[in-house]
Amino acid sequence: MSEALQVAEVRPDDPGLVASLAAAGLPVDDLAEPGRHFFVFSSGIGKVGYAGWEEAGDAVLLRSLVVLDGMRGRGFGRQITEWLLARLAGAGNSAVYFLTTSAAAAALGERTGFARADRALAPASIQATRQFSGLCPSNAILMTLRRDPMQPNEMRDLVRTKYGEVATQASASGCCGPTGCDCGGGKDLADKTRLMGYSEDDLAAAPDGANLGLGCGNPQAIASLKPGEVVVDLGSGAGFDCFLAARQVGPQGRVIGVDMTHEMLAKARENSAKAGAANVEFRLGEIEHLPLADGSADVVISNCVINLSPDKPQVFREAFRVLKKGGRIAVSDVVNMAPLPPHLAGDPGLLSGCVAGASTRAEIEGWLREAGFVDVAVSVKAQSRDLIKDWAPGSRVEDYVASAAIEARKP
Ligand SMILES: C[S@@+](CC[C@H](N)C(=O)[O-])C[C@H]1O[C@@H](n2cnc3c(N)ncnc32)[C@H](O)[C@@H]1O
Repeated sequence: MSEALQVAEVRPDDPGLVASLAAAGLPVDDLAEPGRHFFVFSSGIGKVGYAGWEEAGDAVLLRSLVVLDGMRGRGFGRQITEWLLARLAGAGNSAVYFLTTSAAAAALGERTGFARADRALAPASIQATRQFSGLCPSNAILMTLRRDPMQPNEMRDLVRTKYGEVATQASASGCCGPTGCDCGGGKDLADKTRLMGYSEDDLAAAPDGANLGLGCGNPQAIASLKPGEVVVDLGSGAGFDCFLAARQVGPQGRVIGVDMTHEMLAKARENSAKAGAANVEFRLGEIEHLPLADGSADVVISNCVINLSPDKPQVFREAFRVLKKGGRIAVSDVVNMAPLPPHLAGDPGLLSGCVAGASTRAEIEGWLREAGFVDVAVSVKAQSRDLIKDWAPGSRVEDYVASAAIEARKP
């Protein structure tokens, strides 16, 4: 589509929404009922149309799509549908449906991934909607798009396989894979590491092979580590941040890296042996179930890992559990800035590549607070575009995710 749409949520009694739906012969009686969400879409040439959805159990019914007079025939219907699907992606719904009496709308649905469904076989939650049971004519065509979200174990396996390959490739060639959380191997690894916020001193200090260029920021920069502290690094990879943290906490302190990928752990341990780092250890484990005792750490750090977790609220609960009272979390990770288009949201390479699994700033702040943290701050780094644009060249992923510094304290 040529013209980017601006989108704003509107109230169900918005006069423009009600008048436009009524003029198009679409139902308006139930707009104010719970679980409905409506949006107005505009482009540079003015208001384009309205659309929304209603929640129906674990499914969603798209509805109220109207393209205004004078705006039809320009591809806006498709653009609006794609926006709705992107907005709903990753929201946990099992399938998206819509009802239409228009063959053109059904054809549009097919172009955006929907298929015609048998009304009699629609789930009970869809059959119970007022659109299905009365407001739309009984001959309306039902269209469906199954979501079948990736199961948590599938996501974990995908991520473990990818980082196992990255570690193996790094051991074999001294470099690593082509895509991110970008492994910027080769001659520009140092440049990419500088873009993440590391200093020349950091680059020189870590053992060879520890920096695989897999981060998206520098958690050390916000962690204010002090001598004697116990630090836990979630998803420690080949150990880059652990070795840097070990310098800061000194011989009285300790750093524990946790990673679920055997090959990555082996690489980190090999690097540790090379460096003779006595105050660093690496443990095999999932960050959702940390192999650490309650109240045993002063600081939890992590670099571009939590977005890869299939259960992010649980990661923050675990971080809270292992921290001592007054302990802090200092994380670099990607945050989602705009809904990904369906072709990017569903790309497994972008899920394991630290793009499609990113959560919004509001979600992260909410999960930290729910876990019990206070002084929650998520600061988005606008300058991370330069780093992120190379993760999937040509996909414009830098328009959808940005690196952020995530900080909070256990009271
Ligand atoms: C993008 S890399 C980042 C590595 C490291 N933090 C760095 O900056 O170099 C992600 C790492 O997190 C690990 N990882 C991903 N999800 C994990 C999980 N749920 N539990 C434990 N480790 C995980 C992967 O095995 C991989 O080593």
